[in-house]
Amino acid sequence: MSGRKPNIAILGATGVVGREITKIFDEMKIEYNSLKFLSSAKSAGTKITFQEKEYTVEEAKPESFDGINIVLASAGASTSKLFAPEIVKRGGVLIDNSSAFRMEDNVPLIIVGANEDDIKLHKGIIANPNCSTSQLMLVLKPLNEKFKIKRLIVSTYQAVSGAGLKAINELRENTKCALKGEEFEPSAFKKEIAFNVLPQIDVFCDNGYTKEEMKVVNETKKILHLDKDLPISCTAARVPVFNSHSEAVDIEFEESVTPDEVREILKNTFGVKVIDNPENFEYPTTKDSSGVDPVYVGRIRKNLAFNNGISLWCVADNLRIGAALNTVRICQKVIEMGLY
Ligand SMILES: NC(=O)c1ccc[n+]([C@@H]2O[C@H](COP(=O)([O-])OP(=O)(O)OC[C@H]3O[C@@H](n4cnc5c(N)ncnc54)[C@H](OP(=O)(O)O)[C@@H]3O)[C@@H](O)[C@H]2O)c1
Repeated sequence: MSGRKPNIAILGATGVVGREITKIFDEMKIEYNSLKFLSSAKSAGTKITFQEKEYTVEEAKPESFDGINIVLASAGASTSKLFAPEIVKRGGVLIDNSSAFRMEDNVPLIIVGANEDDIKLHKGIIANPNCSTSQLMLVLKPLNEKFKIKRLIVSTYQAVSGAGLKAINELRENTKCALKGEEFEPSAFKKEIAFNVLPQIDVFCDNGYTKEEMKVVNETKKILHLDKDLPISCTAARVPVFNSHSEAVDIEFEESVTPDEVREILKNTFGVKVIDNPENFEYPTTKDSSGVDPVYVGRIRKNLAFNNGISLWCVADNLRIGAALNTVRICQKVIEMGLY
């Protein structure tokens, strides 16, 4: 089917991720035949200017997907569950940012650069991983290939943009109130986020982990085709940073490994940039990674608690590699491979 240009819909176009998808869709010069922007009734009628043409955002309804070949969705899990059958029934391919289908057997969970061959297995739905999983995959993929991961511990420091527009506004308002010494009633978060760190993202599961933490555990295994019993643990925290997630990662490998070997491999890895010169205070921070594509890695060192262990610091723009960039990269691959 490659050669013909697809009709594309961006569902959730007025949200934080949807806006970023639209921006990257333009930057990557994806070729299309027609384009439409969809939201809920709330934002229907909003104007979006794209490549010098004005579009009116439409309320998403089943008929919105008539004739649509590819849908880039970032409108939450319940919206994706509602519209997925309508999209697939009409012959469209759904590239979904929500958690609705990620762990389903017949839904490939894709990070371009790590496992894009799995796109070929799609049956109408392709899932984009959770943002904290996404940035790790480009880093872990080549290291697992060379040294084989035996155990993995991830601690995340996640920006508020990961929780959508409401959360971004709440950090701003909460900070203003805190600086004035005024009371603030949180609503996007369970507790105040200003000048605070919250050890909860998403709801708690029966095992004491949060759903966000279990996403990292389960999605990592699915994307890297790791053994289901491989020990992985994650602690996810929300921090008062507007954008870009940081992660402290401790990895035990089967094979012996040195920090220099890891540095060398990651310097030559697609989508990864190493900044690792601590003597000169050179290490990546959220300010380096916000608004740009690479996953940044630094502080690469021997882990003192594991045999064959490495610790590193990994920072990336959660709205780009963690959501929108990877979504548009998947879309580009689907078009190149003629899989729509
Ligand atoms: N933020 C991140 O870093 C990140 C990363 C990975 C994945 N995700 C996932 O991406 C999705 C969107 O996140 P976000 O941060 O962009 O949220 P957001 O800023 O709240 O935006 C949500 C978007 O979905 C639309 N929407 C809501 N209900 C709808 C419905 N019933 N029908 C059609 N459209 C509907 C909204 O339209 P209105 O404007 O009309 O309300 C809006 O365009 C979520 O599933 C989230 O888990 C987010």
